[in-house]
Amino acid sequence: MPELVRPDLRFMASFVEALKEGHNRDTLRPETPESIAAVDTDHAGFIASLFVTPDSITLPDGSQGKAVPQTLLWWVEGDRFLGSLGIRHSLNETLAVVGGHVGYAVRPSEREKGHATALLAAGLDHIRHNLPLKRVLLTVNVLNPASIRVIEKNGGVHTDSVPHLWHPGETALHYWIDIPA
Ligand SMILES: CC(C)(COP(=O)(O)OP(=O)(O)OC[C@H]1O[C@@H](n2cnc3c(N)ncnc32)[C@H](O)[C@@H]1OP(=O)(O)O)[C@@H](O)C(=O)NCCC(=O)NCCS
Repeated sequence: MPELVRPDLRFMASFVEALKEGHNRDTLRPETPESIAAVDTDHAGFIASLFVTPDSITLPDGSQGKAVPQTLLWWVEGDRFLGSLGIRHSLNETLAVVGGHVGYAVRPSEREKGHATALLAAGLDHIRHNLPLKRVLLTVNVLNPASIRVIEKNGGVHTDSVPHLWHPGETALHYWIDIPA
């Protein structure tokens, strides 16, 4: 059974394989052969970097955005990396428009097997037990029907549609999910 765990060295070989098959660490920018090589050169340094909140992050338009504390979890089975989930502990001006509290991705070779639906459910459970959030915002591009389905299957309620910050002409849908007490 897959489970949500803290990133760890024992998943790194599989994580690098996932990057090579097209998995992206986030939606801000795609991986390149150079970015993957940098991760592969220093597994321990990479894992350590995942537990540090940077002061700022470079946004897709090149501007600097303020980073908020985040919990990053990996969806794994045995030593195999299947996907990732990021939980932002609070929203800032940017995340309130695009990004929201929760983001996730499943590696390409593992898609359409129900992983994202299960990993989001497990992530909501993690929030319930570990964070003071009573409801969470998820934003999704209107052109991403698989993710819309995943969110709706996890109880997401559509509240808003706003212009996407990084993709001119595209729309970000806002969904909120209540975290039961
Ligand atoms: C979106 C993503 C997370 C979905 O992962 P997944 O593991 O394939 O999702 P699941 O298998 O749990 O469920 C996908 C659901 O979408 C449906 N779906 C898949 N492709 C679809 C499409 N093109 N149109 C409509 N529905 C689609 C599936 O049928 C399934 O619904 P069902 O259970 O009712 O049959 C994955 O494609 C991904 O990582 N994409 C890149 C990163 C990303 O977009 N993250 C989300 C940002 S908001």
